Amino acid sequence: MLKKSRMIAVALTVFMLAGVLAGCGSKPSGETAKPQKLTLYCGLMEDHMVKAVQEFEKETGIKVDAVRMSSGEIMGRIKAEKNNPKASVWFGGPADAFVQAKEEGLLEKYVSPNAGKIPVQFKDADGYWTGIYNGYLGFVSNQKLLNEKGVAAPKSWDDLLKPEFKGQVVLANPGSSGTAYTMLATIVQIMGEEKGLEYMKKLHGQVKTYPKSGTAPGRMAGQGEAIVGLSFLHDGIKYREEGMKDIILSAPSEGTGYEIGSVAVLKGGPDQEAAKKFVDWALSKKGQELGQQVGSYQFLTNPEAQAPKQAEELKDTKLIKYNLEWAGKNKSDLVEKWNNAIK
Ligand code: F6P
Repeated sequence: MLKKSRMIAVALTVFMLAGVLAGCGSKPSGETAKPQKLTLYCGLMEDHMVKAVQEFEKETGIKVDAVRMSSGEIMGRIKAEKNNPKASVWFGGPADAFVQAKEEGLLEKYVSPNAGKIPVQFKDADGYWTGIYNGYLGFVSNQKLLNEKGVAAPKSWDDLLKPEFKGQVVLANPGSSGTAYTMLATIVQIMGEEKGLEYMKKLHGQVKTYPKSGTAPGRMAGQGEAIVGLSFLHDGIKYREEGMKDIILSAPSEGTGYEIGSVAVLKGGPDQEAAKKFVDWALSKKGQELGQQVGSYQFLTNPEAQAPKQAEELKDTKLIKYNLEWAGKNKSDLVEKWNNAIK
């Protein structure tokens, strides 16, 4: 038989345990659950970002703050905030910078349940970033201005060096823009470092201006501010649909580079649970198909997602075997060499 004092102790333990269990999952009366929130840095077009945020908020109730920046700017920001991260997700932009961020310990490993569907060539083997779309680099030219100069749209990298294009080429700055860095890395992969940098130096003599964002050169060509813009070709289709009817697209016959636009969780950022939910959503069929509603016409990485029909005109573009790991790991070095070459 249990002694009276032991019986009281057992009863008390049971009572306390029941209290703890009852408390699980419910808040004391009067206290409401804190709404989940999320901050993300986004490398996509502004309208695509806004649409994605609206849809994700509607589906999950998670409140999102999002800022659009070019790839190199996001890298700079998360590096500066390393010890006190403000954002939790990096959404969109070429994976080269994600490779660099992984190297520098700025990403959190997260293998989403939806990542299994994404083919291996579109994701990091260690689970630090996952591809959401695929875009091809090329030339966005203005047909009216080409006609005025009596020159055809460029069909090779060397065509950009033609005298008719002097002061008429727009390329974003590879330090800030993921698009322009893809171009720099493509040239060096095709020509080798020495010849590639020599080419970039010659091209510098043709360049009108180096805007911060890779989305600008195609728009500038479309608006007649320059003859050729170096751009991801899907951006050219968007601008043409938006009314810039003189746009004509072409790509280098020797082959071009491409991007794997990606998503990742940032290391040590707040709201990690919400961040993972966002990554799951961005990889889903629905999340990937959303961009086409606002003119984002990249190919998609989730095989269940329907690629935009507008991307079809790009499907025969000749691609090089772009070495993304190399491009990511050599990004700072190559940008510095490019800066020195064009000085
Ligand atoms: O959203 C359009 C887009 O071209 C993406 O496909 C690409 O990832 C991104 O912009 C690149 O932007 P930036 O060159 O400014 O880094």
